[in-house]
Amino acid sequence: MIRRIFSSEDGSAAKFFMFSAIVWLIVGMGAGLLGALEFSFPDLTKGVAQLSFTRLRPVHVNTVAFGWLSMASIGACLYIIPALCKTKLHSEKLANFSCYLWNIGIFVGMLTLLNGYTEGREYAEYREPIDILFVVALGSVSYNLFRTLLNRTVKKLYVSVWYIMGAFFWMPIIFIVGNRTFVAMEGLNDGILNWFYGHNILGMWFTVLGVGIAYYMLPKMSGKPIWSHSLSMFGFWTIAFFYAPTGTHHLLQSPVPEWLKALAVIFSAALVIPVISVLVNFYMTMKGSWWMLTTNMPIRFVLTGAFWYLVTCLQGPFQATRGVNWYIHFTQWVVGHAHAALLGTFTFFVIGAIYYGLQRLTGQRIYSVRLVKWHYWLLLIGFFLFFSSLTIGGLQQAVGWALGYPVAQWGLVLPPMWLVRSIGGVLMFLSSCLFGFNIYMTMREKPISSELEIKVAVPIEGDSK
Ligand code: HEM
Repeated sequence: MIRRIFSSEDGSAAKFFMFSAIVWLIVGMGAGLLGALEFSFPDLTKGVAQLSFTRLRPVHVNTVAFGWLSMASIGACLYIIPALCKTKLHSEKLANFSCYLWNIGIFVGMLTLLNGYTEGREYAEYREPIDILFVVALGSVSYNLFRTLLNRTVKKLYVSVWYIMGAFFWMPIIFIVGNRTFVAMEGLNDGILNWFYGHNILGMWFTVLGVGIAYYMLPKMSGKPIWSHSLSMFGFWTIAFFYAPTGTHHLLQSPVPEWLKALAVIFSAALVIPVISVLVNFYMTMKGSWWMLTTNMPIRFVLTGAFWYLVTCLQGPFQATRGVNWYIHFTQWVVGHAHAALLGTFTFFVIGAIYYGLQRLTGQRIYSVRLVKWHYWLLLIGFFLFFSSLTIGGLQQAVGWALGYPVAQWGLVLPPMWLVRSIGGVLMFLSSCLFGFNIYMTMREKPISSELEIKVAVPIEGDSK
């Protein structure tokens, strides 16, 4: 057991993070699905306080955000950074230890939230001892990656290194500040601090990590260099400059200082600049290689993520403007938008990275390409149902609200939309179970021995089991 915790085998920590992430994906999605079903069948878990919606919601959000998406992205980075620096990870032992700490944090956090122990601040619901566990785990992963960077054998830093290392520089600071580890504020100031944190884990953690991973995957899989290195660096520095003060756009309907609101709106609108630079670069890199969408599954996941990135990043600046925000705030539209970012975009990016990276790390062909295709289609169709039902329902809700109709009247439009969301949720949950099974079977099989065979095995082409 101790030997496993402190394993020094190359790539073991990346695999450990990725596999743990998939387990948390299934658990977290299960909690989200149960919560969604309770909208249609309110008595479903009647009498079990732990399974009431108010407890399931934070369990779902924290498990998918920190258990799934963060761990999966860290797993990908533990593989990508050494590869780009042409060196080994500074310490596999330390990274494996960090992964154990992270898993303990998610598990204990889930139990405490189910039993009603919460700080009651969005995305920061875990209690202090768990926060401290995460600070240690996150700090040690960051330290490990920065040491790896220092040990690099190449001079020039590829754009993914900038993005990923940027994320590991910012996230510990944002996490410590946002979780009130050292600074605590009262009332409205705490709201401002909470949304500084809430929006920056999206912008300076998930976005920067996700885009960094996609910048690695696209050239690697298409076999072409990135279209413009300067444009990618321009995107990085504009994200770094514009993101930080945008959090207050979550509080436009509250009495926070007007100058803070104005700053948040202007900087949110300016975010279209890095978004366009990233997407132009992605699409131009793929020019002439779009046919790969039909044969290469990891690339299909990443490009589908890029499509949802366009959707979510067009919505974002638009809904941060005061008029639109007044209209759609507190409606189901926002829940659809939140999922377009974390599920539609970054989950698709990182799934592509796992399918690609795990084959490299294990030297093993993916167990079943057919299951990968099922995974893709169930996830995509499920998410489409989820997103469209909430977006349409949200707009109907907004009209009813704006025109002053009684809730009992416009409320009637929502139950069919919630049912469609749950159907989408069932498809997505099933897709994640297939994903988990496929990866488990892949990791069980013996590695292909020769280096040549491994290289041939990497692209997931049309061959299927
Ligand atoms: C990787 C997958 C997923 C991610 C990253 C994710 C992320 C999130 C986030 C960030 C929120 C908070 C939204 C907000 O504050 O507006 C949320 C809420 C929610 N999610 Fe998910 N989610 C995922 C999958 C699912 C699935 C499969 C379902 C099943 C239908 C689901 C159902 C819900 C529900 C019911 C809520 C609460 C919405 C409300 O408060 O009205 N999620 N999720």
